[in-house]
Amino acid sequence: MRLEGKTAIVTGAASGFGAGIARRFAADGAKVMVVDLNEEAAAAVAEEIGGLAQVADVANAESVRAMAGAAIAAWGRVDVLVNNAGITHTPQPLETVTEADFDKVFAVNAKSVYLTAREIVPHMKDAGAGAILNVASTAGVSPRPNLNWYNASKGWMITATKAMAVELAPFGIRVNAVNPVAGETPLLKSFMGEDTPEIRTKFLSTIPLGRFSTPEDIAGAALYLCSDDAGMVTGVAMEVDGGRCI
Ligand SMILES: NC(=O)c1ccc[n+]([C@@H]2O[C@H](COP(=O)([O-])OP(=O)(O)OC[C@H]3O[C@@H](n4cnc5c(N)ncnc54)[C@H](O)[C@@H]3O)[C@@H](O)[C@H]2O)c1
Repeated sequence: MRLEGKTAIVTGAASGFGAGIARRFAADGAKVMVVDLNEEAAAAVAEEIGGLAQVADVANAESVRAMAGAAIAAWGRVDVLVNNAGITHTPQPLETVTEADFDKVFAVNAKSVYLTAREIVPHMKDAGAGAILNVASTAGVSPRPNLNWYNASKGWMITATKAMAVELAPFGIRVNAVNPVAGETPLLKSFMGEDTPEIRTKFLSTIPLGRFSTPEDIAGAALYLCSDDAGMVTGVAMEVDGGRCI
C-alpha cells in the first residue's frame, strides 16, 4: 500500500502502460482518475479499479482544464500526476512525415506535459508536495531509424522532466520519467510498422533481457517513482528496458 490515501491522475489510462499503472496504483491504495480519449475503455478500467473515469484530450487546453477541475472537485487535491498518453507516427523516412502528423505527435507527447503542468502544478505548490511522472521512452535516449520525430518528442519529454524537476524541487514537488523499451501494448504495431515474427525478432534482438516490456514492468517503476520510497529521487529518466540502452 505504497500510495495509501493518495490521489493520482493517470492519462492514457484506458489501455497499455497507462491501464497497468492505474491498476497498480489502485492496488497500492491510491484513488485514481482514469483519463483517456476513449470513453468506453476508460469507464471499464475505472469501474474495475474503483476509480473515476474522465474523458479528456491531453493536447487540448480546455479539456485538460476540465480534467483538473474534475479531480479537484472530487478530491480537493492531486498528489500524483502521470503524463502517459502518447502517440506515434508510422515508421518512415523523416522527410515524408506529414506536417499534420508531426504537429499531432508533438501536441500529444509534448504540449500535453505543459498543459497538465499549468493546471496541476499550482495545486501541488499550494500543498507543498507532489509527484509527477512522464512516460518518455528509450526512443528519447537511443533513437531507432524511421521513428525520427517520435524519438525527438520523447527526448523533449526527458529534458522537460529535468527542467521541471529543478524548478519545482523547492516546492516539494518531484518530477521523474520512465523510459520503457518496446512493450506489449496496442501501440507496439505502430512502432514496428507491421507485426510479423521477423520484425519482432529484430526488435527483440536489441533487448538484452530478451523480451518486450509489459504494463506491469512499467507500473512497478511508476509506483516506486511516485511513492515516498523515492522521496530523494527527482529529475531522473529511468530506463525500464531490459538493458537496451546499455
Ligand atoms: N508500447 C511501447 O512500445 C512504448 C515504448 C516506450 C514508450 N511508450 C509510451 O508509453 C505511453 C503509453 O503507450 P502504450 O503503448 O500504453 O499505448 P496505448 O496506445 O496502448 O495507450 C495509449 C492510450 O492513450 C490514449 N490517448 C491517445 N491520445 C490521447 C489524447 N490526446 N488524450 C488522452 N488520451 C489519449 C489512447 O486512447 C490510449 O488509451 C506513450 O506515451 C508511449 O509513447 C510506449
